[in-house]
Amino acid sequence: MNRLEGKRSVVTGGARGIGYAIAEAFAREGSDVAILDCRDEDATRAARSLATGEVKTVAATVDVSQPKSVEAAFAQIQSAFGHIDILVNNAGIDTNSLVVDMPVSLWDEMMAVNLKGVFLCSKAALPGMIQRKWGRIINISSQLAHKGAAEMAHYAAAKAGVIGFTRSLAYEVIRDGITVNAICPGPIDTELFRNIPPLWRERKLAELPIGRAGRVDEIAPTAVLLASDEGSYYVGATLNPNGGDVMI
Ligand SMILES: NC(=O)c1ccc[n+]([C@@H]2O[C@H](COP(=O)([O-])OP(=O)(O)OC[C@H]3O[C@@H](n4cnc5c(N)ncnc54)[C@H](O)[C@@H]3O)[C@@H](O)[C@H]2O)c1
Repeated sequence: MNRLEGKRSVVTGGARGIGYAIAEAFAREGSDVAILDCRDEDATRAARSLATGEVKTVAATVDVSQPKSVEAAFAQIQSAFGHIDILVNNAGIDTNSLVVDMPVSLWDEMMAVNLKGVFLCSKAALPGMIQRKWGRIINISSQLAHKGAAEMAHYAAAKAGVIGFTRSLAYEVIRDGITVNAICPGPIDTELFRNIPPLWRERKLAELPIGRAGRVDEIAPTAVLLASDEGSYYVGATLNPNGGDVMI
């Protein structure tokens, strides 16, 4: 307990699912938490539900794919918190299409939210972290970055891009006291996973060694580890809580 006491964290896509579980775990560990999400009412509700006497929470509306929206949201959090210690780039979307049928707009949307969003939010959080010589950036990728999947080439490509970005940024800022790492979850029981076409989901669950989807509370502890002092020697790493889908 209290492994993040006194820290100020931002979780994008924190209104529900994996992001909310991470925000909840961070608050439990004593961190103030900002929930950034495009679902403004859900973000406000999530932030309210996490506030306690010791922990301050705020919500801000953001579309992580839009530079101006990201700048405005981070300015709002800076003025509420003073500074940001920990950023979790978790906001993401999932869609399905064979490459041969994929509209260019579907590809572009995936890259904008799942990859460009990670760049934009990291860029917004970095100057303060560099100035303070301390920071944690945790990027939520996916096991599909390693494995690939039919009908998800755009998703797998964006998530593999997140791993490349994570490693490259880790080189740039580790001497500034900032660690940058990625988490690659396997299939986790959230709205995102429930909205995938049933046949795709059934096939995925059938091939999983553990034989079931994961729970959000099986991902959040990995984020706490990377955010805390206990995680200080992870640099550009990819951690894989994935039910055995990819054994690396
Ligand atoms: N659920 C899984 O099986 C799984 C597996 C591997 C990786 N992931 C990744 O984990 C992350 C969280 O996924 P989840 O399963 O909790 O999904 P989810 O759909 O339950 O939650 C995603 C959140 O991101 C927000 N969001 C989406 N687009 C946004 C945008 N442009 N700007 C701001 N917020 C936005 C949504 O409003 C939502 O609150 C995603 O990056 C996803 O790709 C999920």
